Amino acid sequence: MVARVSTVAFQGIEGVPVEVQVMVAPGKVGIQIVGLPDKAVAESRERVQAALHASGLALPPKKVTVNLAPADLPKEGSHFDLPIALGLMAALGAIPADALSDFVVLGELNLDGTIAPVAGALPAAMGANAMGKGLICPAESGAEAAWAGSQIDILAPRSLIALANHFRGTQVLSRPEPAIRANAANLPDLADIKGQESAKRALEVAAAGGHNLLMVGPPGSGKSMLASRLPSILPSLSAQELLEVSMIHSIAGQLSGGKLSDRRPFRTPHHSATMAALVGGGLRARPGEASLAHHGVLFLDEFPEFSPQALDALRQPLETGECIIARANHRISYPATIQLVAAMNPCRCGMAGEPGHTCARGPRCMTDYQGRISGPLMDRIDIRIDVPAVSAADLIRPMPAEKSADIAARVARARERQRERFVAAGMPATGTNARCSTSMIEKLAEPDAAGLQLLRDAAEKMKFSARGYHRVLKVARTLADLDEKSTVGRIHLAEAISYRIAGERLTAAA
Ligand SMILES: Nc1ncnc2c1ncn2[C@@H]1O[C@H](COP(=O)(O)OP(=O)(O)OP(=O)(O)O)[C@@H](O)[C@H]1O
Ligand SMILES: [Mg+2]
Repeated sequence: MVARVSTVAFQGIEGVPVEVQVMVAPGKVGIQIVGLPDKAVAESRERVQAALHASGLALPPKKVTVNLAPADLPKEGSHFDLPIALGLMAALGAIPADALSDFVVLGELNLDGTIAPVAGALPAAMGANAMGKGLICPAESGAEAAWAGSQIDILAPRSLIALANHFRGTQVLSRPEPAIRANAANLPDLADIKGQESAKRALEVAAAGGHNLLMVGPPGSGKSMLASRLPSILPSLSAQELLEVSMIHSIAGQLSGGKLSDRRPFRTPHHSATMAALVGGGLRARPGEASLAHHGVLFLDEFPEFSPQALDALRQPLETGECIIARANHRISYPATIQLVAAMNPCRCGMAGEPGHTCARGPRCMTDYQGRISGPLMDRIDIRIDVPAVSAADLIRPMPAEKSADIAARVARARERQRERFVAAGMPATGTNARCSTSMIEKLAEPDAAGLQLLRDAAEKMKFSARGYHRVLKVARTLADLDEKSTVGRIHLAEAISYRIAGERLTAAA
């Protein structure tokens, strides 16, 4: 008899249905696993044998064949342990064979028969729900899986014995509850930053429209400090976004305790990060930092210190909102709708352009350093600002600074205006001005006559790229939204263009 158990193989954030078929027949004693298993799956043989033995189930001296169908789909990861063990138990009659037909199963086994947590419980539960089935997953992953819906049947046992008892009716497993991570209330506040009013304004504009931002300034001027306060003014995730973000974090095994958070991701990879770490890849084609920052912020501090190859790999996700990892035998895509925030010094010694400073290496110090960032990448950055050193007057006797909560309220209002506009235009998925399509932004951000004249002059003089032109329009639209104006005026375009000009200098250096 062949016992069948449903499970999934992950391709990107999707769970592809896989059937585990187990047959016990006379022949050479041992367990054979076929169906393109990787090393972790092949080793599951030893874990399953030990876990069943520890649970008091002796394997008969027969040949056990495990097939993972479809046989031509590569199977990766340790989550096949539990479906294989349950298939074997069903084949041996330790649990009723039909008990498993309504479930998708995933979990890793310890040698003592307990079930260890695995990555991907949330996408697996969503997949199971779509197939009209329930889910059997490790106890620690239950809270995360419960987010997939209140109607889906979830069993989250601690051990094989607990599950077998549940099927026998001697012990009842209760349904896990979805858990949310308590948000630490005290995020660093923008009120801590003295002076730097124009940088704070730029940060607010970037937050309101989801625009990419680059801060350039001497050491100690507060760039890293400003960026770390961005989460305190960003609106929280919507229910749909929360699920999308959590699916990626689930696949990457980064949901601590299976708890979800409605705070926007803020990822700060170190500048030694490789290309695979940033955009995804590696042995199991895991999501990279750009995907982990989906619907949130990717902050690259010391921007030119990243390897140029790794930085340029970000060009595609910044444009399309997804990271595509192509392999010889398959192709995986992870969503990566990100807001890029970067900070850098103007040159290696960090002081170029500061009044009264002359660098020993002359202008080369600046051009060499800034040239590490390619022109096309710089072209994708909408707002580039100089963050000069804080003046002594600001440091010693600062003006009272605005609190993050007040700025967050303005940002939330501007985002709400954008959302309403995109819903009215029939594109509710767009969300922010930065993600608006080019044809749409030309319609939605049509400037008044004076604005148009200014834009024409600036585009001619500064030789904006087509992308640059559209990005200026997008930022201007956000500025009008912050102003609660329905049309884009000259003043909004002037500010948007000024943010672009600061960067044209950098592009020239590249
Ligand atoms: N505007 C400011 N208001 C108050 N403190 C500030 C300000 N700017 C800098 N500081 C102080 O200086 C420290 C360093 O700031 P920060 O790390 O943000 O500088 P940075 O611009 O990122 O420098 P680097 O280019 O070296 O990375 C902060 O921890 C803070 O104590
Ligand atoms: Mg810094």
